[in-house]
Amino acid sequence: MRFSTNIAELKPSATIAVSTLAKKLAAEGRDILNLSAGEPDFDTPAFIVEAAVEGIRGGQTRYTPPPGIPALRQTIAARLSERAGRELDWTGVVVTAGAKQALFNAFFTLFGPGDEVLVAAPYWTTYPDLLTISRATPKPVFGEEADDFKLTVDILEAAVTDATRGLVINTPSNPTGAVYSVEELTAIMAWAKSRDVWVVSDEIYGNIYHDDDRVVAPGLLDVPAENLGDFVLIDGASKSYAMTGWRLGFSYCDPELAKKFSALQSQITSNTTTPSQVAALEAYGNVEAATASIATMGEAFRRRRDLVTERMKELLPDVPFSYPRGAFYLYFRVDGLFNEQIQDATTWCSRLLEEQGVALVPGAAFGDDRWVRMSYAAADEVIERALVRMAEFARATSTV
Ligand SMILES: Cc1ncc(COP(=O)(O)O)c(C=O)c1O
Repeated sequence: MRFSTNIAELKPSATIAVSTLAKKLAAEGRDILNLSAGEPDFDTPAFIVEAAVEGIRGGQTRYTPPPGIPALRQTIAARLSERAGRELDWTGVVVTAGAKQALFNAFFTLFGPGDEVLVAAPYWTTYPDLLTISRATPKPVFGEEADDFKLTVDILEAAVTDATRGLVINTPSNPTGAVYSVEELTAIMAWAKSRDVWVVSDEIYGNIYHDDDRVVAPGLLDVPAENLGDFVLIDGASKSYAMTGWRLGFSYCDPELAKKFSALQSQITSNTTTPSQVAALEAYGNVEAATASIATMGEAFRRRRDLVTERMKELLPDVPFSYPRGAFYLYFRVDGLFNEQIQDATTWCSRLLEEQGVALVPGAAFGDDRWVRMSYAAADEVIERALVRMAEFARATSTV
């Protein structure tokens, strides 16, 4: 079969591939602890589900305008305005089928052949692939391990070239859980402006932070407009409201660019499913209920972060990890556990899945195959059992 060159570089999402395999093994009766998936283990809060059901019963089942129901865009803009401390133009909001589509809209509209885009690394696996589909060139840029891989102006300055058109940044980060501070982001945004580089910032985990360092979106910084360059803010309901299957994301940017996104998706998906938009209107509009459910889930993620980091230190004391301040992943380094047969994290993870039934994602998916990502969006008991099995695996393979 011959396919077009459009998909010459296309490959399926690495994280979805691992979690699909884990689900298949579990369906075959294997005792699998699946810590590979990037989704909250909670059900969508009832107040959101009820609103969607009521909407469907009330006939909210038809097309909407491509960028979304105006009331939803206005509500999202109101929430962003509160965070920014200034009035944002609601026509800059475009509702998408998940944050993934918002990212695709941004990359495909802004970047193309000959354009280089810096990607904060380790990166969420999809960024380089979506950039490649857009025929731009992704250029991973790693921060210092000791600084949880966060980028600084010096690191960016060393990576920038005449072809650089964009920077993709993700806070809190998947896979490291790092959260950028206001000062760090202010410096990065000023740098991007000085270099005329678009910043695409993904804040899908913005409501999931474990310490006092509240997450700040680079595009919502409280700085004079002239110090803020061009940006596209990416967010959505998947992680904040346990709504992964509803496919509800959005972008916020200059309204002129938002019109391009809207035109693009009018040719592809028309609009995000209407019941999902009705659900999101409740999620973003019912602030009291939403705050309570975010707090409940946040409390569980924080407790598990503490559990996973404490038990890692006890059970695998020689394995370094990035201390997660947000999101729900532990990113740890396994090259100290390699032996003659295991020379990369991909092999380490597949042997761990085969021998101990623990599914994790190898760092190849995030730009460095000496590392592994474990999701701690799972019951405490599952996390505990997985860590015990990992320690057992490390012991068994160290003597091979
Ligand atoms: C950093 C990051 N951005 C975006 C997404 C995709 O979110 P959505 O479900 O809204 O497409 C994910 C999902 O894992 C993610 O980890």
